[in-house]
Amino acid sequence: MTGRAGRRGAGGARTPRRPTAVHHPEVPARQRVLPTDRPRPVFSRLYARISEGMDAEGLGALRTELLAPLSGSVVEVGCGNGRNFTRYPAAVTGVTAVEPEPHLRGLATRAAAAAPVPVTVVAGTAEALPLPDGGADAAVLCLVLCSLPDRDRALAELTRVLRPGGTLAFLEHGLGPTRRVRAAQRLADATLWPLLAGGCHTAVDPVGSIQRAGFEVTTLRRLRFPDSRLTLPATPHVLGLARRPG
Ligand SMILES: C[S@@+](CC[C@H](N)C(=O)[O-])C[C@H]1O[C@@H](n2cnc3c(N)ncnc32)[C@H](O)[C@@H]1O
Repeated sequence: MTGRAGRRGAGGARTPRRPTAVHHPEVPARQRVLPTDRPRPVFSRLYARISEGMDAEGLGALRTELLAPLSGSVVEVGCGNGRNFTRYPAAVTGVTAVEPEPHLRGLATRAAAAAPVPVTVVAGTAEALPLPDGGADAAVLCLVLCSLPDRDRALAELTRVLRPGGTLAFLEHGLGPTRRVRAAQRLADATLWPLLAGGCHTAVDPVGSIQRAGFEVTTLRRLRFPDSRLTLPATPHVLGLARRPG
């Protein structure tokens, strides 16, 4: 159904304009390009379970380190089940957390109630954030860039919603330090890894993507998580801050 006015019924009478199911005149066109909901029923339930164990294994401490420098209004992209929420510092006045996966978004909405700062969970994608221009003091990318089909577009969106001088805090996994690890990552990406890990790819360069988008990387720490002897495709991580110029 198109909802266009002026169509005539069988008897020639003009039929009244009928609204379409997806007509949202208040939503800018670019926000309608991608569907808001991206259900991943298996991955979402799996992630909800394993994220608790990962936090206990050391990821929780990394989350706290990631969020500690932030203040003011924050947008968190791809918040998952909301594992960051309890770790926001008091200097943060509010968080808008965007999540396209419905099951994870439901869990995040529950987690928001236990957060020490106000957190609002909304449906949306990184590539079309349902947020106004320049309204955020800081943005958070935590284990998300690897899952995005269009990282450049997502980072352009973050540039749009951050105020000039705003902070991007990132904790992401990416390309390994050796040719051998990178070859293993490419193999993983070409086979089962994205299927098992919700579309995640491991041979990605988060810092390069952030810099290409125009951000100035101000702090950067390379680390292994989990910090075990075995190097998995998603073991090499980067944690840091970048500044939106202006
Ligand atoms: C590995 S999980 C990380 C979740 C959370 N950030 C955390 O730190 O636990 C990746 C998240 O990215 C979300 N995601 C996938 N595609 C996305 C997109 N296009 N826009 C925003 N988030 C997306 C997934 O639904 C999932 O919640």
